[in-house]
Amino acid sequence: MPETTSEFTSPNLSVLIPADKIRERIREMGQQIASDYAGRRPELICVLKGAMIFLSDLARAIDLNLTFDYIAVSSYGKEKSSSGEVKIVKDLDEPLQGRDIILVEDILDTGLTLSYLVNSFKARGATSIKIATLLNKPERRKVEVHADYIGFDIPDEFVVGYGLDYAERYRNLPYIGVVKG
Ligand code: IMP
Repeated sequence: MPETTSEFTSPNLSVLIPADKIRERIREMGQQIASDYAGRRPELICVLKGAMIFLSDLARAIDLNLTFDYIAVSSYGKEKSSSGEVKIVKDLDEPLQGRDIILVEDILDTGLTLSYLVNSFKARGATSIKIATLLNKPERRKVEVHADYIGFDIPDEFVVGYGLDYAERYRNLPYIGVVKG
């Protein structure tokens, strides 16, 4: 008999935020965004790859006529700490001129990525730019960034799941977890 293995219940992981809490919080965030943008047609910009799962759930919680675009920036790679460098590796498909932008990110950590993107999007002529992040680690901030919609403030621990990876692993966990050891 082959051994059954489970990624989701791996003994190396502890659950920080369970799936039902994430679902409930995203429902609230979606309602807030729909009310703030009533009558407008915001563009949700997903920062790949980490924010893809958050974007797909958040977008379905926002009852508005909206559009998506995707951008990919250089990440930490296999390291757990930031190099401080941000580089666009896949740019947007559509121009931002005159658009109301909601930047959708998995986690606000040092703030380097979002501060770089906000400045870049302003320079491209967006009408307004707001940030929606699922997670926020306030203790780690190196540059000031204002997030308009925050799912959860978390302590300074390296987290995985719900889109977030460690060396590309764990993105498919349905919850936010901490790798033990
Ligand atoms: P920042 O530029 O330092 O704010 O980093 C943002 C990016 O770093 C996120 O989009 C994640 O890809 C990555 N990151 C930061 N903290 C974590 C973590 O705890 N787990 C997984 N990825 C993280």
